[in-house]
Amino acid sequence: MAELVALQAEGKIRFLGMSGTLPNLTDHIAMGVFDAFQIPYSALEREHETPIHDAAKAGAGTIIRGGVARGVPVAAAEVLERLPEQFRGAYAKRRDLWDEAGLDEVLDGMSRMEFMLRFTLSHPDMTTTIVGTANPRHLADNVAAARKGALPADQYAEAKRRLDVAAKAQAAA
Ligand SMILES: NC(=O)c1ccc[n+]([C@@H]2O[C@H](COP(=O)([O-])OP(=O)(O)OC[C@H]3O[C@@H](n4cnc5c(N)ncnc54)[C@H](OP(=O)(O)O)[C@@H]3O)[C@@H](O)[C@H]2O)c1
Repeated sequence: MAELVALQAEGKIRFLGMSGTLPNLTDHIAMGVFDAFQIPYSALEREHETPIHDAAKAGAGTIIRGGVARGVPVAAAEVLERLPEQFRGAYAKRRDLWDEAGLDEVLDGMSRMEFMLRFTLSHPDMTTTIVGTANPRHLADNVAAARKGALPADQYAEAKRRLDVAAKAQAAA
């Protein structure tokens, strides 16, 4: 880190960024040397909602990854079954969270992927999100969804309320 900070001071590096997750992310933000953090976050994976606020408060930008939960809300059951064993449990849990929160009832006509993308964009402190796709149709849909921006405030609040209840029930189960 000392070398990277020295290179930045010499003007050879403009910005320092890192990919981080809890629990260490808290210390990484507190170090005060990073200009940007890449952080996993989506409606179905909200563990880093507060660190995104913390990074912004510390003056750093955030680059969200996994912002559409890796396509879990629209993936066919066979796709999830083909996943390597170590990922299957976490993906199934996120898929269950979608159903348990009844998110289909709050879509108000939008597709699941539009909802996912715009939920991420609704976080008041995220700077940008990188969405993976190998499908040009999906790319076009995602650009169109992103152009609409954040979700309407009442829809966002209701989705978060439902997700809080469902996540609590999942944790207690
Ligand atoms: N630093 C790290 O440790 C780290 C770790 C993981 C990822 N990343 C980076 O983060 C970025 C995004 O992460 P990610 O790709 O893992 O997760 P993601 O963006 O949440 O999900 C990508 C998945 O969602 C599907 N998808 C995207 N748009 C869709 C749409 N409109 N309809 C249906 N399915 C859709 C894609 O399938 P299709 O191809 O079929 O569209 C792909 O399988 C990537 O650039 C990756 O390199 C970094």
